[in-house]
Amino acid sequence: MSNLAAKRDMPRANAGDGPVLAPLDIGHEKYIALVEPDTAFWSLVKKNRLADLICDPAFLEMVREHAHEFATEMETLRYGLTPSAVYFNPTERCNLNCTYCYLPEAMRRHGIHMSRDDLFRALETLRDFFHPTMPANDRPQVIFHGSEPLMNRKAIFTAIDHFGEDFVFGIQTNGTLLDDGAIEFLTSRQVSIGLSLDGPLAEITDRTRHTFSGHSVHDRVLKALDSLRGYESYSVICTATSENLEHLTRMVELLHSLEVPTCMLNPVRCTLDGGRRVRPSDLDLAAAYTRALDRSYQLYLETGRKLIVANFANILLAIVAPTARRLMCDISPCGGGRCFFAVDAHGALFPCSEFIGIEGFKGGNIFSGDLQHCFDTSAFRSVTQRGVEMIEPCEHCAFRHFCGAPCPAEAHELAGDSLHRGAFCGFYQEQARYAMRLIADGREEAYLWDGWDDDTHTTFDLNIADRKG
Ligand SMILES: C[S@@+](CC[C@H](N)C(=O)[O-])C[C@H]1O[C@@H](n2cnc3c(N)ncnc32)[C@H](O)[C@@H]1O
Ligand code: SF4
Ligand code: SF4
Repeated sequence: MSNLAAKRDMPRANAGDGPVLAPLDIGHEKYIALVEPDTAFWSLVKKNRLADLICDPAFLEMVREHAHEFATEMETLRYGLTPSAVYFNPTERCNLNCTYCYLPEAMRRHGIHMSRDDLFRALETLRDFFHPTMPANDRPQVIFHGSEPLMNRKAIFTAIDHFGEDFVFGIQTNGTLLDDGAIEFLTSRQVSIGLSLDGPLAEITDRTRHTFSGHSVHDRVLKALDSLRGYESYSVICTATSENLEHLTRMVELLHSLEVPTCMLNPVRCTLDGGRRVRPSDLDLAAAYTRALDRSYQLYLETGRKLIVANFANILLAIVAPTARRLMCDISPCGGGRCFFAVDAHGALFPCSEFIGIEGFKGGNIFSGDLQHCFDTSAFRSVTQRGVEMIEPCEHCAFRHFCGAPCPAEAHELAGDSLHRGAFCGFYQEQARYAMRLIADGREEAYLWDGWDDDTHTTFDLNIADRKG
């Protein structure tokens, strides 16, 4: 038998026709990750078994067998989803002047409110748009966002009552206008409520979140949080900046003590100058963020109660169950303009709220009557077609489907166009490594919502088996 024929008859190892597996140091004592970057297939392997595994024909054959399934799942997630949510700004005005706000100050100071009639017309158009595309037992989500939606409280509360059968409503608010009456109204209608708070103490929150005249709002938000205790659908966004990094751990302690079910520790977007002024370094951010995550785990062990850090939980899901992701900033194309879109107080349509105020990203107007058209505009397509493979160096990065090179609005403003990565590349890598370390130690459940896997199925379970072996 010739050498060539002998080789053909041999079991195929990891050569030539793949799979192409990248070994990633995740900073774990015993484990290393093997990632197939195109499909985000991964496996945790004991360091002393790595050489054996990548030459093991049975393992490689298993990966090959499932490759099509992984690829199809990823393709659907990236290109096969349809919109199911709208971020709706019912006003341009805000009563606060946060340092880093991605909405221009002039708009927040002097902008308009949408009238009740226009709000109703817009929601009717949205209802007609979603109705044919949504499954019969599902309703699209409308999240009143901003600027500060409660500045236009009467109009939105009337709309929530009128369209309660058509949409699942949410509201993202700075919390300062969330009085007892508003809380009673929103909770009795199961509206999900997001609040914003940047520190465990007023002196920390005040560094970034305050009124135009510089007054503190910390205590008012705390009061609202206290009143919401026991309600299932509320959460807190804490924007991580150079001003509060050292306090993220105490922030987690505060939110946990208030029995807040879910929070987000979102890195500040450096879209405008204000955000750039409080941009932390990637390494400082990663260190403070992972300390805060460690603390959330300890608190869970001590009390049996979870404080879910939703932006991190989403990364864990991106790894253990990609199709169960709930947020769409860490996949490319991101969710902007395809899973959700934004409507401003004039009815203008944008792929995401982050683009409101940036020239060139308006994809039409909801009052023109033709909502579908916006998805074909260059404004939307520049976001919905932005694959991580189009970006240098992300196209070669093994983390690319756990990161997505966010965010196109930020990249556009930082680098002049959105085909660049945004801020915090190093942070996103560390976040994925931390998530894989947790999985290696079998601790991921503590960071995820109870019942997160009720509707998911397992494609390939070698990861779990090997991890525990
Ligand atoms: C734009 S505000 C609108 C709703 C409301 N006014 C509020 O503050 O919650 C929504 C969220 O975006 C956050 N945000 C604003 N600018 C940001 C930026 N540059 N980077 C990250 N988050 C930002 C705010 O802190 C807030 O949690
Ligand atoms: S983050 Fe929210 S509260 Fe702060 S200025 Fe922006 S819109 Fe207003
Ligand atoms: S931003 Fe960084 S971590 Fe994310 S895909 Fe690009 S190179 Fe990878």
